Amino acid sequence: EKGGYDYFMLKEIAEQPQAIADTLLGRLSERGEIVLDEVRLTDQDLRDVDKVFVIACGTSYHAGMVAKYAIEHWTRLPCEVELASEFRYRDPILDRSTLVIVISQSGETMDTLMALRHAKEQKARVLAICNTNGSTIPRESDAVLYTHGGPEIAVASTKAFLTQLVACYLIGLHLAQVRGVMYADEVAAVVSRLQRTPDDLRELLADMEDVRALARELKAAPTILFIGRHVGFPVALEGALKLKELAYMHAEGFAAGELKHGPISLIDDGTPVVCVVPSPAGRGVLRDKVVSNIQEVRARGARTIVIAEEGDDTVGAYADHLITVPRTPTLLAPLMTTVPLQILACEIAAARGHDVDQPRNLAKSVTVE
Ligand code: F6R
Repeated sequence: EKGGYDYFMLKEIAEQPQAIADTLLGRLSERGEIVLDEVRLTDQDLRDVDKVFVIACGTSYHAGMVAKYAIEHWTRLPCEVELASEFRYRDPILDRSTLVIVISQSGETMDTLMALRHAKEQKARVLAICNTNGSTIPRESDAVLYTHGGPEIAVASTKAFLTQLVACYLIGLHLAQVRGVMYADEVAAVVSRLQRTPDDLRELLADMEDVRALARELKAAPTILFIGRHVGFPVALEGALKLKELAYMHAEGFAAGELKHGPISLIDDGTPVVCVVPSPAGRGVLRDKVVSNIQEVRARGARTIVIAEEGDDTVGAYADHLITVPRTPTLLAPLMTTVPLQILACEIAAARGHDVDQPRNLAKSVTVE
């Protein structure tokens, strides 16, 4: 049932190209419009939106963080992302022109469900991104976009995360199109770029031996730090979360620019720091900023594990270990850069002798607040 893999998690990581392709399937109409699943919202409702909240927990929250960058960039609507467990208790400002996007793999996460109910009480429109047909969260929402990732058995979320990213991109593009901020051909260009990511990901997955070897070297590290900027920041948080939950190791993710405001003190001789480097194309400034952050941590003794795009020829000089990923537009890059971090966490956990699919103290579906 594990299809020849040692763990469900490895099987599900390997299924990611297909999961992305399935989530994209049939989403673009002949008129170049994006098709959602169950939409009990009119285009006019979507045009009336003046603010977006994205609400989720854990890994799904990290997908929401990426969504914020995409939605604001494409729609020019203000977008806030918040942990479901915090959202409801701080009296957020919501009304009928607020769109609340809730993201949940299981569709049963109690914190997310309670946030959804709170949003509905305030008359906000709720759109769910969910992997489980007919679960409570999509049932209670005004609209749903299902991620067609298939069942996820391993407790740690992998393919669900990548398909949530795809769903967030689709919703951002749909909103931009309905609101007249992007033309159909612009939307179609991004969708066709998304359609190439499964092949890119297959290429990436075929070449993970170095990451496995690195995992064996890092298995006894007292801590591993992760840094990134822009959409690389949620990727850093996701890499750290995976390592905590699976390997029971101390790990932390930081916005790279925050290092000098405190966390850089953590860096000691040999401290592994995983650095997610943005594409040099498009936003070269971002890439250069991360490279200077890498130099800063290296100067303090860090062992740098650098995730960078193929063709970024100069970044290797700052890397103790260089992991390259296929070239991808900045906003879509998490579909690539997350994957080596999933494998790293999985392999470190396995090397430490842990049950990768069933980490201690965790449940797949968190149905208590
Ligand atoms: C981490 C993980 C959890 C879930 C979180 C939300 O690998 O799986 O952090 O992402 O419990 O779950 P859903 O998406 O089902 O609401």
